[in-house]
Amino acid sequence: MLRQWWFLRTAGAFSRAHSGCSTSSGVKPKREIPADGLQLSDFIRESTRKQRQKAIIPSIEDTREYLNPEDLNGNGRSVCYVTYGCQMNVSDMEIVRSIMTKNGFVETEKREKADIVLLMTCSIRDGAEKKVWNQLKLIKGNSVNRRQIVGVLGCMAERVRHGLLEKRNLVHLVAGPDSYRDLPRLVAVATGGSNAINVQLSLEETYADVQPIRVNADTKTAFISIMRGCDNMCTYCVVPFTRGRERSRPIESIVEEVRILRDQGYKQITLLGQNVNSYRDMSSTEFAPSTSALPGFKTVYKPKTGGLTFTSLLEKVSDAAPEVRFRFTSPHPKDFPMQLIELISSRKNLCKQLHLPAQSGDDETLERMGRGYTRDLYLRLVDDIRHIIPDVSLTSDFIAGFCGETEEAHQNTLSLIRAVRYSFCFVFPYSMRGKTRAHHRLTDDVPEEVKQRRHLDLTTVFREEALKLNESLIGTEQIVLIEGKSKRDESCSVGRIDGGEKTVFDNSELQLEPGQYAKVIITEATSQTLRAKLIGKANV
Ligand code: SAH
Ligand code: SF4
Ligand code: F3S
Repeated sequence: MLRQWWFLRTAGAFSRAHSGCSTSSGVKPKREIPADGLQLSDFIRESTRKQRQKAIIPSIEDTREYLNPEDLNGNGRSVCYVTYGCQMNVSDMEIVRSIMTKNGFVETEKREKADIVLLMTCSIRDGAEKKVWNQLKLIKGNSVNRRQIVGVLGCMAERVRHGLLEKRNLVHLVAGPDSYRDLPRLVAVATGGSNAINVQLSLEETYADVQPIRVNADTKTAFISIMRGCDNMCTYCVVPFTRGRERSRPIESIVEEVRILRDQGYKQITLLGQNVNSYRDMSSTEFAPSTSALPGFKTVYKPKTGGLTFTSLLEKVSDAAPEVRFRFTSPHPKDFPMQLIELISSRKNLCKQLHLPAQSGDDETLERMGRGYTRDLYLRLVDDIRHIIPDVSLTSDFIAGFCGETEEAHQNTLSLIRAVRYSFCFVFPYSMRGKTRAHHRLTDDVPEEVKQRRHLDLTTVFREEALKLNESLIGTEQIVLIEGKSKRDESCSVGRIDGGEKTVFDNSELQLEPGQYAKVIITEATSQTLRAKLIGKANV
């Protein structure tokens, strides 16, 4: 029955308007998609064309006339959710959970038996994709459900596209980051025996109206996605191709979600996006004073004007939930106006922790990466931040062995890490990604073993500096937001101080719960963890 309806749909005029969203049971898509996928310009062209054609493109509602409505209902079928990649993926999976649950699907942890397994995937490095391929083989090998549907969602779905379906026995459904509302239909199509794929990127989708079903609710910490996509086009990075153009959620929908979480007792909210501080709510009729970045920082796109900025958003969420701690990730160094730094300094519930991804400490490498700043500008930003927020904790991302990186360039990165003293750094060996500007114009010329050695150097130096920083906290009083019990010792609780450092302390006396604040004195430090003595209960 389903298949019959589906043939009708793909054979009709609808398929002409829907090349990014096709099924492939012998029906050739109208437009040829190159084996290595489309370029960003294709998505934009395609998306703009579709915006214009909006009136004639059927929405998900419209497809119901082609599918039996019952086929879109999960009717209690079980779904196992598996998440890889960044925090955005964790947050996206919460949106997927919500969409699936609303449509009658039920979550299960039993992967082998599940009717449907959905993998939220990452493409940032080759290794991230290899992990997913291995997992797909494992899922197939261990499954005891012959009719099990396996879906690949997220960045790898968007990048590899039809390449995933070629392994017909491993993957039956492919859904890119902007097509999660379409999942019930895609599952129905896959259930009918056809491959189901929707990798259409959108200029508008933010899932603002979807109330996520949160994981880790017991830690009383939550993510809120405030924007999607990225316009920065750093030359090494695949994200603009997998997540499309940058767009921001309306401010009111974010503040409303903050209120809901506040009322549910959440005590830490992390605002998420690929470039959170370029957030702009263009839908608002409110006018915010314009804020400009430090002079010298550049963007690859025309500077955005109008709308409400990230500074306004932070101000509003901070007002809406004074008992909740706010963090955000990832900001870009180019979007740090003074007003933003001053706001963070002046509000108790805006954590004094900033992620300032540097990527490199070498000017020529930064230029090739297209980051829009020099080492000197970056260090000036750090100085300004430390001047206004003296006790700020800084964290960063670095890439080891980018195209053309010399030993001297690597030394410059090591010296930047020493100069800044980060409390944590994520360090990655460079992995060339198809479609990026580096792929087109640069050569991946640093041998693998050199990348590995530089990776180790960067990790060693950031740890040495983090240890010194953490040791300097010994004897200070801090407020920890408790997230749960220590895995090693049940009588101990674990949480984070305002600066984000993980802190463990004996809580057997007061038995404070996750979501409560504890006043502690730091007693010991390693490069990654602090130990503390509990003094009493506290407020934010
Ligand atoms: N938008 C965020 C996160 C991007 S992905 C930001 O700009 O900070 C997270 C990190 O992965 C990047 O900061 C970068 O350090 C790393 N990364 C991105 N592409 C990479 C690649 N091709 N190889 C190795 N690391 C990469
Ligand atoms: Fe990638 Fe750069 Fe965008 Fe971050 S800011 S997602 S590194 S392109
Ligand atoms: Fe990976 Fe996509 Fe996040 S590539 S890092 S899952 S935005």
